[in-house]
Amino acid sequence: MQLKIALNSAIQRLARDAVPSPRMNAELLLMFTLDCDRAYLHAHPEREMSEEERTRFEAALVERARGVPAQYITGHQEFWGLDLIVTPAVLIPRPETEHVVESVLELVRKVGGGGQGRPASAEKIIDVGTGSGCIALALAKELPGAEIHATDISLEALEIARANAARLGFENRIQFREADLLQGSGLEFDFVVSNPPYVGESEADQVQLEVRKFEPRNAVFAGTTGVEVIKRLIPQARAALRPGGWLVMEISGTIAEQTSDLLHDWDEVSILPDLQSIPRVARARKRR
Ligand SMILES: C[S@@+](CC[C@H](N)C(=O)[O-])C[C@H]1O[C@@H](n2cnc3c(N)ncnc32)[C@H](O)[C@@H]1O
Repeated sequence: MQLKIALNSAIQRLARDAVPSPRMNAELLLMFTLDCDRAYLHAHPEREMSEEERTRFEAALVERARGVPAQYITGHQEFWGLDLIVTPAVLIPRPETEHVVESVLELVRKVGGGGQGRPASAEKIIDVGTGSGCIALALAKELPGAEIHATDISLEALEIARANAARLGFENRIQFREADLLQGSGLEFDFVVSNPPYVGESEADQVQLEVRKFEPRNAVFAGTTGVEVIKRLIPQARAALRPGGWLVMEISGTIAEQTSDLLHDWDEVSILPDLQSIPRVARARKRR
């Protein structure tokens, strides 16, 4: 079968199965099957697929049609220009989480992260609930002098985060540790950064079925209301930050108001929107 025929029939099939963006998904899975880029697909529409390629493409389409996210099929997701391995043990990094990274970098540039007696380039940062390691890795890339720690409660997630760090050459830059939020860190940080679980079980029916069915439950849901994890994280962050240090967290519009309330005794509290104008990043400074 020629590539163009395989591609067109895959697009129709995914559309029939109500997979969003069927063309993009079909192309992605064909590129994955052939280990090629989009330019190759379109430059060789008449190239014949081998029996083995057809079998693998078919298997990928079956998975996608039953709702498995394309990233769990291909095993990859890009974040902050980094190619990350993802498995169902970790949340698929989202583009909006890049706002958390941007926010930390902006603060580092504006106020300098270095605590007393430390140069501004030696920020001490902890990423809580690191998942694939995406935030910690992006910060390691951008802040070569920073000391970076990362925790997760899931050992399986930490395995993926460590593998990503090793693949990208950052294994000596980030210390990964299994922990419930910040427990046992015993250090004082300039930044506590986190994309914690923040969806409430009570709003589960508003969450995409693919997310509910295939992404790790403890990465998405925090409890009944969605603020349960943040409620524990905020006091722990205060204890772990140096005076004047920053807490930067991803949130959703649903919990923005409650998050502001929980930060009432912090300084310089702001809630920043994402590109869709949804409240996305909460940041606050520990009182000096
Ligand atoms: C929303 S995901 C974020 C993952 C990654 N940082 C990202 O931005 O894609 C939340 C992560 O927090 C972890 N997590 C959930 N509860 C935790 C807890 N009590 N302590 C530490 N990590 C936790 C989950 O395993 C998951 O990896």
